[in-house]
Amino acid sequence: MGIKAEEISALIKKQIENYQSEIEVSDVGTVISVGDGIARVHGLDNVMAGELVEFSNGAMGMAQNLESNNVGIVILGPFAEIREGSDVKRTGRIMEVPVGEELIGRVVNSLGQPVDGLGPINTTKTRPIESPATGVMDRKSVDQPLQTGIKAIDALVPIGRGQRELIIGDRQTGKTSVAIDTILNQADQDMICIYVAIGQKESTVRATVETLRKNGALDYTIVVTASASQPAPLLFLAPYAGVAMGEEFMFNGKHVLIVYDDLSKQASAYRELSLLLRRPPGREAFPGDVFYLHSRLLERAAKLNDTLGGGSITALPFVETQAGDISAYIPTNVISITDGQIFLQSDLFFSGVRPAINAGLSVSRVGGSAQIKAMKKVAGTLRLDLASFRELEAFAQFGSDLDKATKAKLDRGARTVEVLKQDLNKPLKVEKQVMILYALTRGHLDDVAVADIRRFEAEYLNWLEHNHSELLDEIRTTGNLPKEDAINAAIAEFKKTFVATA
Ligand SMILES: Nc1ncnc2c1ncn2[C@@H]1O[C@H](COP(=O)(O)OP(=O)(O)OP(=O)(O)O)[C@@H](O)[C@H]1O
Ligand SMILES: [Mg+2]
Repeated sequence: MGIKAEEISALIKKQIENYQSEIEVSDVGTVISVGDGIARVHGLDNVMAGELVEFSNGAMGMAQNLESNNVGIVILGPFAEIREGSDVKRTGRIMEVPVGEELIGRVVNSLGQPVDGLGPINTTKTRPIESPATGVMDRKSVDQPLQTGIKAIDALVPIGRGQRELIIGDRQTGKTSVAIDTILNQADQDMICIYVAIGQKESTVRATVETLRKNGALDYTIVVTASASQPAPLLFLAPYAGVAMGEEFMFNGKHVLIVYDDLSKQASAYRELSLLLRRPPGREAFPGDVFYLHSRLLERAAKLNDTLGGGSITALPFVETQAGDISAYIPTNVISITDGQIFLQSDLFFSGVRPAINAGLSVSRVGGSAQIKAMKKVAGTLRLDLASFRELEAFAQFGSDLDKATKAKLDRGARTVEVLKQDLNKPLKVEKQVMILYALTRGHLDDVAVADIRRFEAEYLNWLEHNHSELLDEIRTTGNLPKEDAINAAIAEFKKTFVATA
């Protein structure tokens, strides 16, 4: 192969031309003032909103407020060495994060940099963290279930792929546990999970990662963390970074589950950042665009149509309430953007009903189309039954004489509550959920003592696996309920072997 002199000189000429244009792009400005993670910079006249800039100490910043004679920049890193008068360079890039398969199994920060000490992430692909949500025509209605493995959710408030379901509750009501169990249940569901931890303690995140690792869930999970010790801008960016990573998979036809734990902390971080940038405060001192903060994030969850590959992003945003007040500012905002909410209540939690889902206040607006046929048959009216049981229960406390029908309702309700209890990190496959809910709703548990229900369930499901696995297989493969006679016969057979306590 000969080398052509004219080709080489053409290349060199081109390089020189590009070199000059690169210099033109990197305008340099000077810091006028700096404090609390915010810098005001003069001289960056051409900077774009959201553009990345570089400070002289290597820290990155993001241009936020473009004003007539200066630019407000949030600093994404250490800012102690940045001084008045130091240089700030434009990069010409909008904020982006690395994306791709290589991130799976890793723990990264809001900028996509690894923080798990497992070495660099070798990916060349990036995506901008802010990008417009999928349009109307590119979407499809939700029609595939996302099995959480939690009986109370899959039966009462089913979630579909591409849906946004809010998980809301006071502190320490088992919110994070719901997300972790859902992730654990995705092991064989062909789902990539992204857990975004916002403003949590490093030790809590560490424990969560360990739980995922121990249960083998890290093989299909990315953890994005911006812990409480990080500057506010990183907390604000973490969810966008997470969803950008998810979009890469969705547009390649894959299914993604993303958990934002939690958006109240993101809103607080955004409030801090906005106040420091001197944006006008509104209700509860949040800036005027706090609704847009969450709507543009949650709108990026979608189920794509078949021409685009049929991928999906299902979002589980969390919001923490104060004393169960779901009508506060941020909770009502997020409730109005999502397709339903799961309300976790602290008095249920403390009375031992765990997961502490309040059936009356929880809904899923996509729900039904996201349940398999067998589940729809056994759990159709369960949510309303449970809600009316809670009302009756309150009345029955007055000790008035109860008629037979009411008594039967109360008995069934007490058993329903027992069946819907579930231990931590024990997600249950949908076919097993159907079998125990069938027994409950068809009255086969009415003669089992309430105290025995949970043991009955465990032994029954175990027994089915060994003696009637064909019933479980049928539900798993076809999604339909097997012949009711066959199930009834199996239950009767099992009951002969079940020993009641007392
Ligand atoms: N189904 C369950 N069965 C038994 N214990 C549970 C269950 N769910 C949660 N817990 C326990 O309750 C405690 C609080 O759970 P979790 O951390 O999930 O709540 P949270 O609402 O996320 O709390 P925070 O507000 O601190 O984030 C944990 O110690 C957890 O082990
Ligand atoms: Mg939590």
